[in-house]
Amino acid sequence: MGRSTHLFLLGLLASASPFVSAQSYGSLSPASPGFSVGSGSGSGSGSSSGSSGSSVAASSSQSTIDLAAIGLHTLAKANGLLFFGTATDTNLFNDTAYMQIVNDRNMFGILVPENSQKWQPTEPTQNDFQFANPDRVHSVATANQQMLRCHTLTWFQQLPTFVTTTAWTRATLTAAIQAHIANVVGHFRGACYSWDVVNEALNDNGTFRNSVFFETLGTDFLPISFLAAAQADPNARLYYNDFNIEFDNNKTAAALSIVKLVRAAGGRVDGVGFQGHMTTGQTPSRAAMSAVFRKFTALNLEVAITELDVRQTSLPPTPAQEAQQATDYVSMVGGCLDVEGCVGVVTWEYTDRYSWIPSTFPGTGAACLFDENLVPKPAYTAVASVLAAKATGVPASATIAGIGAGLTGFVASSSSSSSSVANSNNNNGQNVGSTVSSGSNTKANIPAAEFIGNFGGSPGLIPASSVSATSTTNTGSGSSSATGSSSIGNSNGGNSNTGDSNGGGSYGY
Ligand SMILES: *[C@@H]1O[C@H](CO)[C@@H](O)[C@H](O)[C@H]1NC(C)=O
Ligand SMILES: *[C@@H]1O[C@H](CO)[C@@H](O)[C@H](O)[C@H]1NC(C)=O
Ligand SMILES: *[C@@H]1O[C@H](CO)[C@@H](O)[C@H](O)[C@H]1NC(C)=O
Repeated sequence: MGRSTHLFLLGLLASASPFVSAQSYGSLSPASPGFSVGSGSGSGSGSSSGSSGSSVAASSSQSTIDLAAIGLHTLAKANGLLFFGTATDTNLFNDTAYMQIVNDRNMFGILVPENSQKWQPTEPTQNDFQFANPDRVHSVATANQQMLRCHTLTWFQQLPTFVTTTAWTRATLTAAIQAHIANVVGHFRGACYSWDVVNEALNDNGTFRNSVFFETLGTDFLPISFLAAAQADPNARLYYNDFNIEFDNNKTAAALSIVKLVRAAGGRVDGVGFQGHMTTGQTPSRAAMSAVFRKFTALNLEVAITELDVRQTSLPPTPAQEAQQATDYVSMVGGCLDVEGCVGVVTWEYTDRYSWIPSTFPGTGAACLFDENLVPKPAYTAVASVLAAKATGVPASATIAGIGAGLTGFVASSSSSSSSVANSNNNNGQNVGSTVSSGSNTKANIPAAEFIGNFGGSPGLIPASSVSATSTTNTGSGSSSATGSSSIGNSNGGNSNTGDSNGGGSYGY
């Protein structure tokens, strides 16, 4: 994966320039429903008419974009990360205000089924496979042109009764793991950017957890799982995923050993997921975090923050607690930004409305970037700002002005908009040429070309001087193959791929 500040921006500019001038993008920015631009409110109208490629209808003519309101994924991409995303699941799909933000690909470029892909729901009784719910998550991601992180295969929790009660032998449990993985990974073959193949195999002191898997198979359950996953989807990135490995302790060392153990047995491990279930005031510094990440990337692994939240230990949080939480979020995201090979960040629900924390750790909570009313917190502002600062070279403080107004507009105006924006850029170096309009409102999906066309040079915006392209930067293997015929349908083809080794769309979304 290539990481270079500005590469994304340069690639977009280069790919966009043959089609439309920056000036003409200026009229397009508010087409994304609900995105507040500058101090105004989003007021997109019109309709998408493209059946392939993209079409954008817009009615307003703002010339600047509040950088921090662009969305975390777009900002992450501007840093060369592959994604900023969130966990979600089908039990929440009836909450339209919540889904408005889930569906916003500028905010979240990758989704993770929070529960529905686990062993219990996917194979509740042996050899009876159920995929209706995770298929719906996949469908949402597909419609939004978002990627999918798939989660999880061999884990000691949320297991069906047959796994926990059968009197397994070494041979029968091996076969059961292999069958589960072959079916589940096989079903989603091509759809998953990555799979969390083994989850939480370790105790906090770094010894192996006494799961049914470890008791029956010893550490062999690890290579058994990774070998089966590699066979079922040769292109999905295969991850070991765990929590409390952020502190450079015995558990961190044990996670490194797991990678070596699986590889020594002939298995493929591509990445390690740092769940990032952190606590306010007890989170490593940005420098400490990046140092831990580098221990893993030194093994030719990618890393990602896969389940980020930072919980408050007393509620409701004071302003000081909120400020500390913002610092802690920035330490995590900044630590990732600072490490070549950290590919992205996923939050474990973006809103306190649906966080798992209060029920699991009573008395704690308020752990997410958005509060229960879907209003972004200081932590959101801080994360958006650190991403913007890194991408543009402007100080983080410069991007903070206006974010409150921008995001209030973003949330509030979303339900009244009827515009549709079809964005042909799937961020994988492929122009997929499909529209995403449906229903009365689609999503705030600013085409990348607009993003470039609207920098204004004002405080809080990408300064024009920071975007200066001389050549395209597509070093991935992706190719642009848009079939759209609208004016900007082809504006972002393969050039936006910053050369990650997964370029060329070897995964579905
Ligand atoms: C969604 O459905 C669930 C279960 O049917 C229900 O408890 C919840 O209140 C619904 N949420 C909304 C926003 O309608
Ligand atoms: C870490 O492991 C070492 C031995 O490898 C042991 O001496 C030490 O007590 C362990 N620390 C913790 C906190 O478990
Ligand atoms: C490590 O933690 C596990 C689980 O809490 C415990 O059972 C085990 O005794 C611990 N081992 C050591 C060496 O501390």
